[in-house]
Amino acid sequence: MLQRFADPIRDLLAAKSGLPRNEIRLEQPRDEKLGDLAFPCFVLAKSKKAAPPAVAAELARSLAPELREATVTATGPYLNFRIDRLALAQEVLATVGRAGSGYGGSDEGAGKTIVIDFSSPNIAKPMHVGHIRSTIIGAALVRLHRALGYRTVGINHIGDWGAQFGGLVVAIRRWRDEVGLEADPVRGLLELYQRSKHAVDTDEAFRAEAIAAYQELESGKEGEVRRLWRWVTEVSLRGFDATYRRLGIQHDLVRGESFYEPFLEPTVERVTAAGVTEVSQGALVVMLGGVDKGLKETPCLLRQTNGTTLYATRDLAGLFHRWDEFRFERCLYVVGAEQKLHFRQLKAVLARMQLDWEPRVEHVDFGLLLGKGRVKLASRKGEVLVLDELIDEVVEEARAVIDAKNPELADKDKVAEAVGIGAIVFNDLKRERIRDVIFDKDDILSFEGDTGPYLQYTHARLGAIERKAGERGEGRETPDWTVLENSGPILMRMARFPDVVRSAAAHCEPSELSTFLIGLAREISGWLTDNRVLGEAPPTTAARLGLVRNARIVLANGMELLGLAHPSEM
Ligand code: ARG
Repeated sequence: MLQRFADPIRDLLAAKSGLPRNEIRLEQPRDEKLGDLAFPCFVLAKSKKAAPPAVAAELARSLAPELREATVTATGPYLNFRIDRLALAQEVLATVGRAGSGYGGSDEGAGKTIVIDFSSPNIAKPMHVGHIRSTIIGAALVRLHRALGYRTVGINHIGDWGAQFGGLVVAIRRWRDEVGLEADPVRGLLELYQRSKHAVDTDEAFRAEAIAAYQELESGKEGEVRRLWRWVTEVSLRGFDATYRRLGIQHDLVRGESFYEPFLEPTVERVTAAGVTEVSQGALVVMLGGVDKGLKETPCLLRQTNGTTLYATRDLAGLFHRWDEFRFERCLYVVGAEQKLHFRQLKAVLARMQLDWEPRVEHVDFGLLLGKGRVKLASRKGEVLVLDELIDEVVEEARAVIDAKNPELADKDKVAEAVGIGAIVFNDLKRERIRDVIFDKDDILSFEGDTGPYLQYTHARLGAIERKAGERGEGRETPDWTVLENSGPILMRMARFPDVVRSAAAHCEPSELSTFLIGLAREISGWLTDNRVLGEAPPTTAARLGLVRNARIVLANGMELLGLAHPSEM
C-alpha cells in the first residue's frame, strides 16, 4: 500500500536523477525518526562525479517543491522521505478496513504450487517433541504461502517403512498380551517397539524372524504381517490426528514412506538411466563429490547389498513423484538440522542428474527444542515426552494463570487451550528457526514478555475498547484524522505488514512475522497509555478507534498466519 506514496517519489527521482525507474529502490530507513522511506544516493555518485552526500543534498533541493503528500531531507548519503501523516492515516486505515481478514495477503502466487513436507512423524511411536517444531513451522509456512495465493500441498511423509517394522511385528506376535495392546494401543506399541529394538540386538532367533517378517512386508504379500503393519499405521495415524486437530493443523496428503514403495524400482531405473550410478561393494550408489566437494566421502546409497532400499531411495521416489505431479515452484522439507546431510545428498543426486529444478528443492532446517538449562525435554516421569502431554501441561498452567487474572471469564477452558497452545506455538516461531528453542513454561506463558499470550492479551485489550465503544455508542462521528499525527510509526508498521508476510514466506522464516507482531503490540500498548480512546471529543474518539480497530485486524491476521488463536476476551 505504500506504493501509493512510493510510486510518485520514484517517478520524480527518475526524472531528476536520470536513473531508470526500475533501478530505484526505496528502503526502510535505519531509524524511523529519519523518515518512512529512504533512497541511498551511492549509485548516483559515479555518474554525477560528486560525493554521495552532495548528490543527496542537491537532489533534496530539487525534489522538495514538487513532492506532494511527502517531505524530503538529505541525511548524509541518504534521501529520507516522510509521508504526510494525514494522508498516511487515511490510506492505511482505509486499506486495512477494506481488506479486513484478507489484509496482508495477495494473489502473487496464483498458478504456482508449493509442496511442503512437514511434521512427518514415525508410526508405532507417539508424536514426540522432536516433531513439534516441524509441525508448527511447517503449518505456518503453509498458511503464509496460501495467503499469498499459492496453491499449497502439505504432505505428511509418515515414517511407516523400514526394517524396524519387521521387529515390531515379531514383538506383537510374542508379547501383545503382556503389554495389554488392545487396551492402550499407542502406549503398548511404544513399549513393544522399544522391546523389539533390544531383542533384535541381543536375540539371534528374534532377529532372523524379524528379517523374514520385513521381507514378507516388502514382498507385498497380503498376510498376517501386512495386516499387523496396517493396523499399527491406523492406530498411529488416529493418535496423530487427535494432536493435529488440537493444533488446528491439516495435511492435504498423508503419504507415508510406504506410499512410494511401487515407485522405488522406477526411481532406481530413472537414476541409473541418467548414468550416474555405480556399484560399490555390491551396493548401488551415486557418487556426489563431483557436484558437492563436501560429499566426497558420503555417496548416496540407493540399494543395499542385500537388495533393500533406504530412506534416501524413498525420498528420491517422493521427490520425482512430487515433481511429476505438481511441477512445484518450491518443494520445502521442514525437517530438523540433524538431517542436513541427507537433504544435501538428495539435492546433489538431482544436480548430478542435471535436473534444472534442483534449486527448487529446499531443506527448511531448524534447531532443537530443549528444556530449561538446555537439557533434553522429558516427561514428568522422565520418559519420552509426548506432544499431547506437553500441550496438556501448558494448558493446565494457562488455566491457572487465567483463574488468577480473570476468574469471571466465560469459556475458561477454551481460552486456556488457546493460550496454552498459543504459548507453545509462538515460542517455536519467535526466533530464527535455525536457533535452538528453550522451553520454559513460565517464560512462554508470561503476559508481559515476547510471548503468544502477550499478543493474545493485547489483541483482546483492543477488542475490549471496541466493544465498550459500541456499548456506549461512541465512535460514530466523522473522524478527525489529524489526531493521528503522532501515530506515524504504528501506521507505517501496519502498512508494511504485506511486505513482512511476503518476506517471511520467501525466506521460510515465520520469525520475521513474529518480530513484527511483537513490535506492533508494544507500539500499540505504548500508544494507548498516551492516547485515550473513549470519552474524548467525538471526532477524536472516532479517529483513535479507527486505529485501534485496524491494529487489531493486523494483529489478528498475523496471529492467524502463525497459528495462534485470538480469543476476544481473556
Ligand atoms: N520421519 C522422519 C523422522 O522422524 C522425518 C521425515 C521428514 N520428511 C522426509 N521427506 N524425509 O525423522
